[in-house]
Amino acid sequence: MRRGVLVSVTVLGVAAILTAGALLVYRGALAPQPVRPGTVPPGTYDPVVWGKIYPLEYDSWRQTADPRSANKSKYKKGWDTDGVVYDKLSEFPYLALLSRGWGMGIEYNEPRGHYYMVTDQLEIDPSRVKPGGVCLTCKSPYAQKLLDENGPAFLKMPYLEAVDKIPAAHRTLGVACIDCHDNQTMDLKVSRWTIRNALAALGKTSPTRQEMRSIVCGQCHCTYIITRDEEMKPTDVVFPWRGSRWGDISVENIIREIQASSSNLEWTQEVTGFKLGFIRHPEFEFYTRDSVHWQAGVACADCHMPYRRVGTSKISDHNVMSPLKDDMRACLQCHTEKPDDLRRQVLAIQDRTVALMNRAGYAAATVAKLFELAHREQAKGKVFDQKLYDQAKECYLQAFYRVVFLAAENSVGFHNPSEAGRIAGDALAFAGRAEGLLRQTLTAAGVQVPEVVNLELGKYLNDRGTKKLNFRPEQEIKDPTGLQDVFLPPAAKGLAVKK
Ligand code: HEC
Ligand code: HEC
Ligand code: HEC
Ligand code: HEC
Repeated sequence: MRRGVLVSVTVLGVAAILTAGALLVYRGALAPQPVRPGTVPPGTYDPVVWGKIYPLEYDSWRQTADPRSANKSKYKKGWDTDGVVYDKLSEFPYLALLSRGWGMGIEYNEPRGHYYMVTDQLEIDPSRVKPGGVCLTCKSPYAQKLLDENGPAFLKMPYLEAVDKIPAAHRTLGVACIDCHDNQTMDLKVSRWTIRNALAALGKTSPTRQEMRSIVCGQCHCTYIITRDEEMKPTDVVFPWRGSRWGDISVENIIREIQASSSNLEWTQEVTGFKLGFIRHPEFEFYTRDSVHWQAGVACADCHMPYRRVGTSKISDHNVMSPLKDDMRACLQCHTEKPDDLRRQVLAIQDRTVALMNRAGYAAATVAKLFELAHREQAKGKVFDQKLYDQAKECYLQAFYRVVFLAAENSVGFHNPSEAGRIAGDALAFAGRAEGLLRQTLTAAGVQVPEVVNLELGKYLNDRGTKKLNFRPEQEIKDPTGLQDVFLPPAAKGLAVKK
C-alpha cells in the first residue's frame, strides 16, 4: 500500500509526498481553464445561468440525477440501476428499536444523488419533516435567504408552507452552485449560518483552499442539533462543535454538547421513555479526526469529485458519488493498485466495521428492552437503587449515541477505520456495563430477569408510518464474521416477516 502511493506520487514528480502542499501542486497542474464569457451576476440561484458560463461543471452536476451502477458497492446501495430503495431500518434492524418514537424510526433510507435532496423530503413519511421549515436548512440553497427574510419564524413554520416560500421553479432544487462558489472568483465558499458559527467555535477563521475542499461538504455532511423551546418547536440548527478543535471533533465532545442542555433533546425514545438527542451523518467530524487520508492532506473532493477529462478540458467531476460506483477512479489519482484491489481493501474495512457495529447495536437494543422491563416493574411498585439505576442509564446513553453515530456515518468505517473500531469498542463496553448494572438493579429489587432478552423487532419494523412499511428481510445486513448468533440467538431478535 505504502509503496504504491509512493510510486504514484513519484511518477507525478512531486518531491514532498504526504503534505497538503504536494497535493495542491499536483492538483493545480491538472486544471487548465478555458476563457469564460463573463461572470455570474451576484445572488444568482439558478444553476442554468451558471451553466451558461461553466457548461462542463453544470453538466456533471446535473448527472447526480442519474441512477448509479448496481452491485458495485456492498453497503451503500440505493437509487442504483436496480431501482430498489434501501431501507436502513431493515438493513440494521436494531436501529428500528432504538429510533422508535419519531420520524427516524419510521422511514430512513440510504442516500441517493444530490439532485434528490428536497424531492426526498417531499416523498418521505411526513413525520420526518415535522419540525418544519428548519428541515430545509441543509437542503435548499434558499435556506439562508428565507431565514434572513422571515427570521426564526421560518424555522418553525410547517414544512410545506416553508417550501412554498421558495420561488416555484426552484422548490425541488437541492445543493446548487451558489452554495459552494463565489460568483465572481469561483473560489469555494460556504452559504449557511450553521457552518459559519461552527467554524467560529473551532477558531477556524481563514481556511486554506485544500481545507475548503472539505468544508463545503461539511456544510451538510455533519451532525446537527435542532434546538427546541418548551413546546418542542425548533429555535435553531447548531453543530455541536463547541469545545472541539479543528481536526479533533470527537464523538465524546459531540455527546457532551448534546447533553449540555435539555433544549438539545429532540425526541422521546418509545422503548425506554428517555428524552434524547440524536446524531446524523457525521462524515466531516469522523473523517477529519486524524484519519490517515486527512493527515495526508486529502479532502472530501479528492475522493468524491475527482478530475475528469472532457474533450480538451479537465474539470472537477460534480457528479458526486461513491468512489466504488465510479470504479475507484478517484483513488487512482494517487494509488497505483488495481481498482479491484482497492475495492477489496474498502470492503475489508467495511466488513470489520459492520461486525462491530452490529455487535454494539444489538447490545444497546438489549439494554433498552431491559429498561422497558424495569419501567414496567416500577409502575407496578418495585423500587430500585437510584444510584445503580442512574449509572446504568448513563452507560446506556453513551452506548446509544455511539451506535447512532456509526450507523449514520455514511462510509461504513472507510473514512476513518481505526476511529470506527474505537467508537464501536467503547459502545460495546458501555452497553455491557449498562446491562450488568441494570440486571443487578432489577435482581436486587426482586425482579426475575430472563437470561435471553427478546427484542421483539418485528413490532418496530412492521406497519411503519403512512406507507405501512414492513421489514425487508432480503435487505438485512448480517454480521460478516458470522459470530453474532453466539451473542444473541436469532430467535431472540423477534424478527417477524410480514408479507
Ligand atoms: C446542501 C447540503 C449538501 C452539501 C453542501 C453536500 N451534500 Fe452530499 N448529500 C446531501 C444530501 C441531503 C444527500 C442525500 C440526498 C438524498 O438521498 O436525497 C447527499 C448525498 C451525498 C452522497 C451520496 C450520493 C449518491 O449517489 O448516493 C455523496 C457521496 C455526497 N453527498 C458527498 C458530498 C461531498 C463530497 C460534498 C462536498 C463536495 C457534498 N456531498 C456536499 C447534502 C449535501
Ligand atoms: C480517501 C477517499 C475518501 C475521502 C477523503 C472521503 N471519502 Fe467519502 N467515501 C469514500 C468511500 C470509499 C466511501 C464508501 C462508498 C461505498 O461503500 O460505496 C465513501 C462514502 C461516502 C458517502 C456515502 C456514499 C453513498 O453512496 O451513499 C458520503 C456521503 C461521503 N463518503 C461523504 C464524504 C465527505 C463529506 C467527506 C469529507 C468530510 C468524504 N466523504 C471524504 C471515500 C472517501
Ligand atoms: C457541493 C459544493 C459544490 C457545488 C454545489 C458546486 N461546486 Fe463547483 N466546485 C466544487 C469544488 C470542491 C471544486 C474544486 C475547487 C478547488 O479545487 O478549488 C469546484 C470547482 C469548480 C470549478 C473550477 C474548475 C473545476 O472544474 O475544477 C467550476 C468552474 C465550478 N466548480 C462550477 C460549478 C458550477 C457551474 C456549479 C453548479 C452547476 C457548481 N460548480 C456547483 C464544489 C461545488
Ligand atoms: C489525493 C490522494 C489520495 C486519494 C485520492 C486516495 N488516497 Fe488513499 N492514501 C493516500 C495517502 C497519501 C495515504 C497514506 C499513505 C501512507 O501513509 O502510507 C493513503 C492511504 C490509504 C490506505 C491505507 C490507510 C490506512 O489506514 O493505512 C488505503 C486503504 C487507501 N489509501 C485507500 C484509498 C481508496 C480506496 C481511495 C479512493 C476511494 C483512496 N485511497 C484515495 C492518498 C490518496
